[in-house]
Amino acid sequence: MLAALAGEAHARPPFWLMRQAGRYLPEYRELRAKAGSFLDLCYNPDFAVEVTLQPLRRYGMDAAILFSDILVVPHALGQPLAYLEGEGPKLDPVRNVEDLKRLSRDRFHETLAPVYETVRRLSTAIPEQTTLIGFAGAPWTIACYMVEGAGSKEYAHVKRWAYGDPVGFGQLIDLIVEVTADYLCRQIEAGAETVQLFDSWAGVLPVGQFRRWVIEPTRRIVALVKAKHPDTPIIGFPRGAGHAYEDYVADTGVDAVGLDTTVSPVWASRTLQPRVPVQGNLDPIMLAVGGKTMAEAAWDILEALTPRPFVFNLGHGVIQSTPPEHVAELARLLRAWPNRG
Ligand code: CP3
Repeated sequence: MLAALAGEAHARPPFWLMRQAGRYLPEYRELRAKAGSFLDLCYNPDFAVEVTLQPLRRYGMDAAILFSDILVVPHALGQPLAYLEGEGPKLDPVRNVEDLKRLSRDRFHETLAPVYETVRRLSTAIPEQTTLIGFAGAPWTIACYMVEGAGSKEYAHVKRWAYGDPVGFGQLIDLIVEVTADYLCRQIEAGAETVQLFDSWAGVLPVGQFRRWVIEPTRRIVALVKAKHPDTPIIGFPRGAGHAYEDYVADTGVDAVGLDTTVSPVWASRTLQPRVPVQGNLDPIMLAVGGKTMAEAAWDILEALTPRPFVFNLGHGVIQSTPPEHVAELARLLRAWPNRG
């Protein structure tokens, strides 16, 4: 995986899956019930290490991703957060400059200390040849949750603030940029060998706003992390960026880019891969469907992207209803490549 991120092409590319740990695995559901709340799972290194290792034991991915969530960052800034059964995350929204006074960096690293401990333990618990991935949400996506207070269809509150009061909203983005760069540096110092920035809602912004709230803050985080850790590759995942993938790759300084489900692998091989290694992008629903349909979709991606530096992944996270056998089937198919069958 690290060789691929450094620009090496492989006949059999490395693979891992976004959300490779989680509710599709019975052993996850069992531990989750024991832990109590989802946040208790994230902040307990014994549990978080175990959950990280679960998919590796079954499928031997080439990389382990730290088990945590992107929303521990607003939580560590003092924003109340709960995960409600079947509803997803809920936060007390911050909607204007006045609300920013409720946030504080004072207990940031103290709150996140168990995450750093989890990374430290994982760095020795995983097999030598397995890459340890740290991660954070990118500022725009974190701001979406902080301002909306939950997932959203329209993103109207966060867009209104960003478009209507860019200076005030910029203060929130600046805060997220600074703490996120720090957070990623701490993960790297604890043993993360690469880090991924998840920008799950990058795709909802028009072009000028995309530059201001996706490209610029990402570029600043990359520069801050690279100032301390120039050799740690940074993967950006601007989900839904569409045409803007090109500018994102050219202007943020990321070392590799994650492709969402909608990106054409053939287009990516011509347009993005000559500049940076790419990662992706099997539709998670293909994995849930399995069989020949999944195999053919995976082979199309492999055919287009293996000639250049590439990490196989999904185009978004594994969904809960995915049969674990389908993941085993995908792992088998990836190991058999370039043979089909
Ligand atoms: O295996 C891994 O990928 C590592 C762990 C991980 C989780 N979330 C665990 C999780 C990672 C990398 C994330 C990233 C994350 N979290 C993103 C970016 C990627 C994406 O999916 O777009 C986002 C937007 C979040 C915020 C979040 N966390 C939401 C919207 C939800 C609710 C939706 C859901 O699937 O429940 C969560 C909860 C969450 N994060 C779960 C897991 C395993 C499920 C919690 C549970 O057990 O109930």
